[in-house]
Order: sequence, then structure tokens, then C-alpha cells
Amino acid sequence: DKGGWPSFMAKEITEQPDAVANTLRGRIAADETVVIPELDGLDELFTGINRIVVVAAGTASYAGLVGKYALEKWARIPAEVELSHEFRYRDPVIDAHTLVVSISQSGETMDTLMAVKYARENGAKTLSICNTQGATIPRESDAVVYTHAGPEVAVASTKAFVAQITAIYLLALHVARVRGTVSTEELAGFTAELRAIPEKIVTVLEQTESITQLAHWMSDSRAILFLGRHVGFPIALEGALKLKELAYIHAEGFAAGELKHGPIALIEPGQPVFVVVPSPRGSSTLHSKVVSNIQEIRARGARVIAIAEAGDAAVLPFADTVIHIPLAAPLFEPLLAVVPMQIFAMELANAKGLDVDQPRNLAKSVTVE
Ligand code: M6R
Repeated sequence: DKGGWPSFMAKEITEQPDAVANTLRGRIAADETVVIPELDGLDELFTGINRIVVVAAGTASYAGLVGKYALEKWARIPAEVELSHEFRYRDPVIDAHTLVVSISQSGETMDTLMAVKYARENGAKTLSICNTQGATIPRESDAVVYTHAGPEVAVASTKAFVAQITAIYLLALHVARVRGTVSTEELAGFTAELRAIPEKIVTVLEQTESITQLAHWMSDSRAILFLGRHVGFPIALEGALKLKELAYIHAEGFAAGELKHGPIALIEPGQPVFVVVPSPRGSSTLHSKVVSNIQEIRARGARVIAIAEAGDAAVLPFADTVIHIPLAAPLFEPLLAVVPMQIFAMELANAKGLDVDQPRNLAKSVTVE
């Protein structure tokens, strides 16, 4: 039931504040520490390891890429992300000191399931982040942390993605606590940031109308580029994937720092480029580097759509359009910056008269390898 919305995707985008809140529910204690009841008594999954490998496909892999920054920053443990369909075919180095974390909305993606089985057979520990109770992947894993996004019907993943980032952040904080790499005060600060996210997503959703207008103006674009840096990089990849799968527009995401190593050659007058601008309150160097990237592409005629923190005046002179997101600590920005991209891709597909819930050639759950 679409509940009065024109599509399941429109409904699911607006359900994102709840997807995050429900994934947090029961996992932050009164003293602001992280408690994941499903992981009770499983500390040895996190103490005896020297590496985390995240395996996933598509949007779930981008949630993994965002999670890598948090795992390394907070839990101080090397983390890498690999597409599940590449993983088992290259004889990866894994052993009993490796924790393989799979991320899957459906819990039935064959590529990811086979990667998890491979990891177990080769002695690794396995943990599944999954949105579907009792699905095959969690059943095949040593532990599971469920996302509570509710059933996701639209083929394009939206609310499951923000729930996946929330879950891997909770996991990173849990591992950090078990391994003693964050102080109680730091933990409390991070859980407070997480608890504030649902309200902030509501603020982003309030801009749906102007983003819809932008999508209508841009509906005849032939190619759209997405740039991001740090945690904004996986968000650029996700923005591009949404546009490909929904609007059938050629779209690419790049790490902003890569521009001068090749992609800047693509910039010609009128080329639309979305740029995820990191908060100036995080690393001012990172912020100014992305602002100079914007100047570089603008000088070559790019049409810049910046997704920037409210009050970030530095981008205003160089961007054609600025979409503001509320202030959040730098690692938490992906949960906000992705929302305008989802709305943009959906509305551009709508403007082209396409079926946003069931794009051509795609299945919601890919149960074949
Ligand atoms: O069910 P899963 O999370 O394992 O699915 C993984 C991908 O197939 C999925 O995220 C896909 O990329 C979506 N269509 C993206 O919107």
C-alpha cells in the first residue's frame, strides 16, 4: 500500500527519519552508550580480530564504504570494502582474525551470500547487517545486527541505505567500546549525533519541492557527474547509481581529488555536476579543497549543484544551485546529503514519465549470481 503516495519510492524516501530512529531504538542506553543486545556475549568477534572486510553489492556496498571511515576512525581497526561478487574469486587473504561484515537489505542477494559462505569456509568470523528478519544471509552468519527500515518495496534502495549506515555506525561504536578506543564522553557525543539525525532528515525533506523543480529543469541532461570527498565520496557514487537506475541517464561518481587525474577532461560548458561539500567545521583543508574543485570546474563551464551545510557561504559565489543540509558532525553528513540525490533521481525519472518503483531490467532482490 502506497499510503497515498504516488510511488513506493516517494513513500520510502519520506520514511527515512523513522528508518534511522527505528534502527537506533533500544540500542542507545540511558548513559548514551551503545548497547546492541544481539551482540551480547559475542565480544570475541571483535577482540580477536585484526581486520574487518565489508562485503556487499550496489547501494549496500556504498553504505559499507561510508562505514569504513567510522570503523577506522572510532574502532581503530583496518577496514576494507569489497564488492561481494569480486571477493571470493580472487583468493582473498582471510583467517580467524578477520571479521567479514556483510550488508544486505534483502539478506538474499546471491553474490553476497556466496561471499559470506566463502568467508566462513575459510575460517573468518561473519556478521550480517540485514533488513529482513530470518533471511538466508543472517542465518549463515555468526552474528546479525538488523536494520529496522521496514519493508522496502521500490527497487531503488533509499530508506534501507540510511538504516545500513546507522547500523554500521552503531557497530563501529560497539566495536570501539569493546576494544576501548573511544572514551565514554566521545561515545556520548556520537550517539547524540545519531539521535539527532531523524529530525535533520525531516528538514532536508522540506526541500523536496525545489529539488523537484531542479530535476524538471534538468530532465533532458545527457550525463550528470557527482563529486565528493571523504565520506562524501561514497555518497557521490550512490547519487550516480540512483540516477542511472531510475532515470537511465549516464552518471558517474568521482572522488573530488581525482578530478585533475582525469575526469576534469569531461567538463564542458553546461555539464551538470553535483558536488557534496564537506563541512567547513570538520577539516577546513578538506572543505577548501572541494571549494577549489568547484572553482576549477566552474571555470570550465560546469553547471554546479552544491550540497552544502547550511550557512556555508564559501560555495555561494561558485555554485549555480545550493541545496542546504543541516549542521552535523562530519561523519554524519552522508545520512543527510544522500536525501536530495534520491529525490532528484526520482523526480527526474518522474519528469521523463518512467516507472520509479520498477525500473527496466532490474529486480529488487538479485538471487542469482
Ligand atoms: O538486498 P541487497 O541490499 O543485498 O541488494 C544489493 C543491491 O542489489 C541493491 O542495493 C541495488 O544496488 C539497489 N537497486 C540500489 O538502489
